[in-house]
Parts: sequence; C-alpha cells; structure tokens
Amino acid sequence: MSEHYYDIISDSYHELYKEEQGQKIALVLSMVKLEGSILDVGAGPCYLSSFVDSKHIVALDPSEKLLKMAKNCKTVVGYAESIPFDDDTFDNVVSFTAIQNFKDVKKGLEEMKRVGKKQFVFTFVKDSPKRERIIFYVKELFKVDRIIEDDKDVIIIAKK
Ligand SMILES: C[S@@+](CC[C@H](N)C(=O)[O-])C[C@H]1O[C@@H](n2cnc3c(N)ncnc32)[C@H](O)[C@@H]1O
Repeated sequence: MSEHYYDIISDSYHELYKEEQGQKIALVLSMVKLEGSILDVGAGPCYLSSFVDSKHIVALDPSEKLLKMAKNCKTVVGYAESIPFDDDTFDNVVSFTAIQNFKDVKKGLEEMKRVGKKQFVFTFVKDSPKRERIIFYVKELFKVDRIIEDDKDVIIIAKK
C-alpha cells in the first residue's frame, strides 16, 4: 500500500468506511468505558469523536487529508512508531483498523504502551498477513482482557 494511499482515497473515505467503523466503535464502547484522555492512533477522520466527548481526544495519523476531516478532535500528524508525546500522557490509547498498516508493528505497539496509562483498545483487519505478529506482540507487551473476532476485525481490549 502506498505511503499516501489514504490521502488519495480521502474524498471517498466516509462512503467506504464511516458506517463500518462506526459499528466497530459502538461495539467496543458496549464493552469498555473510555474515561479521561484518549489518544486515537491511526485515527483517520476520528469517528470516535461522534461517540465520546471530542475534547478528550487527540487524533494521530500520517494522512493530513484524513485528519482535516476530523473536525472536532485535536489532530497531530505523525506515525505510531514515533508518537510525539511523553510517557504516560493518556488515560486511554485506542487504534481502530490501523495496526495492520504500521511499517513496524512492534515499535508502534511499544509506543502506544509508552504514552498510555490504563486502557488500550486495538482493532485490526483479521485477514491481515500481520495478524499473528500483531497478536504475539500485543500479548507480549500488554495484559489482554479480551480478544473478540468481529466481522472484519480482531478487537483486543488490554491494560498495561
Ligand atoms: C483503515 S484506516 C482506519 C482509520 C480510522 N481509525 C477509522 O476507523 O476510520 C487506517 C489508518 O491507518 C493510518 N496509518 C497508516 N500507517 C500508519 C502508521 N504507521 N501510524 C499511524 N497510523 C497509520 C492511515 O493513514 C489510516 O488513517
């Protein structure tokens, strides 16, 4: 996938993903309460802000065009592998359908752990060739509460 794939498809992103991602977020929020500050890694247009108070959310993504669509969140252009925040900055770190796109899965997960304090939610494409690697590193780095197989994603709820 090209580095700028998500910039290129940004005009049709809502049509392609809004409904599906909204359903995933609603399912996650039926299982876990996100209290306090939230870093959304690979946030794209930050659909999470339609479900929880956006003033608590920071949206991080390399795609400037998708972040421009994240109207209500504070946005930061950047990569999971090098998150520009101090250790233990956020109460919650979430990532919806993005980890399979990280160039370095282990580093991305290590960085999410470093900046997060309590609750972590990761979803990723279940048919991804990186699936087993992602699950391996999540189990190595976090205390996993639940792993759920959704229609398209694996959903992992974890703590530090
Ligand atoms: C399928 S989209 C999901 C976006 C959003 N989380 C959602 O639910 O609609 C995958 C996202 O991962 C982002 N991404 C790709 N590589 C990344 C990386 N190394 N670090 C953080 N985000 C990345 C893309 O820019 C894109 O926004």
